[in-house]
Amino acid sequence: MKLVSIVGARPQFIKAAALSRKLREAHREILVHTGQHYDYEMSGIFFDGLEIPPPDVNLGVGSGPHGSQTGAMLRGIEELMLRERPDWLLIYGDTNSTLAGALAASKLSVPIAHVEAGLRSFNRSMPEEINRVVADHLSNLLLCPSDTAVGNLAAEGISDGVHLVGDVMRDVLDWARPRAETTSPKILDRLGVTANSYILATVHRSENTDDLTKLSSILRALSTLDEPVVFPVHPRARRVIIGSNLRLASHVRAIDPLGYLDMVALTASARLVLTDSGGLQKEAYWLGVPCVTLRNETEWVETVDTGWNILVGSNAEKIIEAVHTFAPPSSRPALYGDGCAATKCVDLLG
Ligand code: UD1
Repeated sequence: MKLVSIVGARPQFIKAAALSRKLREAHREILVHTGQHYDYEMSGIFFDGLEIPPPDVNLGVGSGPHGSQTGAMLRGIEELMLRERPDWLLIYGDTNSTLAGALAASKLSVPIAHVEAGLRSFNRSMPEEINRVVADHLSNLLLCPSDTAVGNLAAEGISDGVHLVGDVMRDVLDWARPRAETTSPKILDRLGVTANSYILATVHRSENTDDLTKLSSILRALSTLDEPVVFPVHPRARRVIIGSNLRLASHVRAIDPLGYLDMVALTASARLVLTDSGGLQKEAYWLGVPCVTLRNETEWVETVDTGWNILVGSNAEKIIEAVHTFAPPSSRPALYGDGCAATKCVDLLG
């Protein structure tokens, strides 16, 4: 079989790490990078650190407003598929790269497999929610990480081609964890923090970064906390912070975005994670680290139901209170599969 896989943004490189390895054992994969993320620390560092094969094609689309970014990808992906005529198009998650891949393939009647299908925040003001809904409705094979995702699709009338496979991010974490343990002391030393005595914070969602009131409220909370905060800053947030002269207290270590192994090491040793990232909510859960989520809803509802994740939005007082008082229970049931999701996906594609 010949497959075209589309990646473009940071979380997709991580997911592709699980699948590309397995796919290439039996099939021909053409890995297409749309170029949505292009800085080394947002892109290349993941290909190097996760041993992902280099992209066969880079469309070099770069940043831009949603319409023009997605449009440029659509054109590039369509041209490639007209040339290659693949048996499947493989898309991941919910980014503009996912949407462009789904639109291009569906118009050419190329079957689409969607990894991480069925997630919903039920908040249509998020670009990711629009991307997911459209991608799912155009997909032929819907590879779901949870029962909730399967149920969400059923509620929208989608049941053909739906499979519960678990989360490929769990596969990647299992691969990375022993490797991260050897790098862990180095990154903690470099940042001058010790295990279980710091908070790991990330903010990148447009709902938080593009609204100055929300971003300054989140940063005020970080600056008010009384323990060290490690804050790898996404370029979107960095741009807004620099442009608006927002200031951080000295216990907040604002650093460049990190590679995957360093991030796993930092998450595993954190006392608590403070984030608006979907991937980090799950990684915190799997690693047994309490998570305070800077959103009002989550697609990963099971992490909240089990008591390991709490949703606080961007209100500074709520964030500070949760950081001081949030205490998950002792039990932590297995969620999102067994670390073999990629094998299941490849079997279903075959
Ligand atoms: C995208 C995804 C989001 C995902 C996130 C992971 C969409 C709609 N959103 O958001 O779901 O969680 O990636 O990071 O697809 N930039 C750089 N260098 C880069 C990449 C981006 O400087 O390598 C800056 C640019 O100024 C750009 C901004 O970040 O305008 C936003 O990048 P973009 O790819 O549009 O969205 P993300 O916020 O990263």
